Amino acid sequence: MDNEYITLQKHTDSIYTSINITRNCHSKDQQVDKPLKETPITKQWPKILLTILLILSLAANVVLAVFLIFKSTELHIPAHFQSSNKFLNKPTLDHCSHLNNSSLECTACPEGWLQHNKKCYFFSTDSMNWTASRDFCITLGGHLVIIESKAEQKFLETVLRSKEGRRLSYWIGLNDIITEGAWYWVNNVPLDGSITYWGKAIIQQPEDWKGENTSGEDCAKLFKYSSSIEWHDDSCQKEHANVCETVSGMLKVYM
Ligand SMILES: *[C@@H]1O[C@H](CO)[C@@H](O)[C@H](O)[C@H]1NC(C)=O
Ligand SMILES: *[C@@H]1O[C@H](CO)[C@@H](O)[C@H](O)[C@H]1NC(C)=O
Ligand SMILES: *[C@@H]1O[C@H](CO)[C@@H](O)[C@H](O)[C@H]1NC(C)=O
Ligand SMILES: *[C@@H]1O[C@H](CO)[C@@H](O)[C@H](O)[C@H]1NC(C)=O
Repeated sequence: MDNEYITLQKHTDSIYTSINITRNCHSKDQQVDKPLKETPITKQWPKILLTILLILSLAANVVLAVFLIFKSTELHIPAHFQSSNKFLNKPTLDHCSHLNNSSLECTACPEGWLQHNKKCYFFSTDSMNWTASRDFCITLGGHLVIIESKAEQKFLETVLRSKEGRRLSYWIGLNDIITEGAWYWVNNVPLDGSITYWGKAIIQQPEDWKGENTSGEDCAKLFKYSSSIEWHDDSCQKEHANVCETVSGMLKVYM
């Protein structure tokens, strides 16, 4: 996993740009104000215009004040996110915490990804086989999800439970393609036997069922079946949705 962060100045620039725009709006308001006072045409229009201008000017001041609170920001994004324009346009900020009284640190994920514990998760809508899913996550700057804790499993279950459908399958980054029964995550780490969520609801998993393909079932998926959500092995060439994962970006705000 890539923990190297890069500093991006662009974000800071855009905040200052916003301040300039707000200031321009404000001075424009004042210029329009004067001729109105000198030449009153009807009784109604100046009142309405002045009210609108007053509201606009108040709004501009609020916006200006909000921007001035944040003197500067640093957006640290993982190097592998650089290709994702979506990240730069609209990062989702979450889990902000105070570093001290004058700075705040938030985690950030690309638009459309969900955040949990400084990681970002993408639930695909397209279906594809396991190999294509593995490659798909890499093109997004991540990898098929690697489930390392009960908290992470519970998070995935919560997301899946919120999705409509009685039977849903999502490929995860686990397979025993090389040696039957020797399960490895996509980062080449063997499956920790104490952190597994193999299904029991229908039949004890993994079962390496050969009914559909004589080479058995060598790829793992998260399977939502009625109210249960558990791991099942399945034929790698089957097409399912998938869950990609990557480390989140960091946004530091200095006040
Ligand atoms: C607050 O934390 C930031 C980030 O770690 C640091 O750069 C800054 O110097 C700290 N400020 C104070 C007043 O300790
Ligand atoms: C942060 O601010 C609070 C309230 O103003 C103050 O009591 C506290 O000592 C400050 N902490 C630091 C580390 O400056
Ligand atoms: C059976 O699975 C293997 C390995 O995933 C695949 O190469 C093969 O095409 C599959 N066979 C059928 C009939 O789907
Ligand atoms: C997976 O899908 C890709 C793209 O459709 C295809 O090229 C590849 O042969 C498939 N692999 C398996 C094992 O089914």
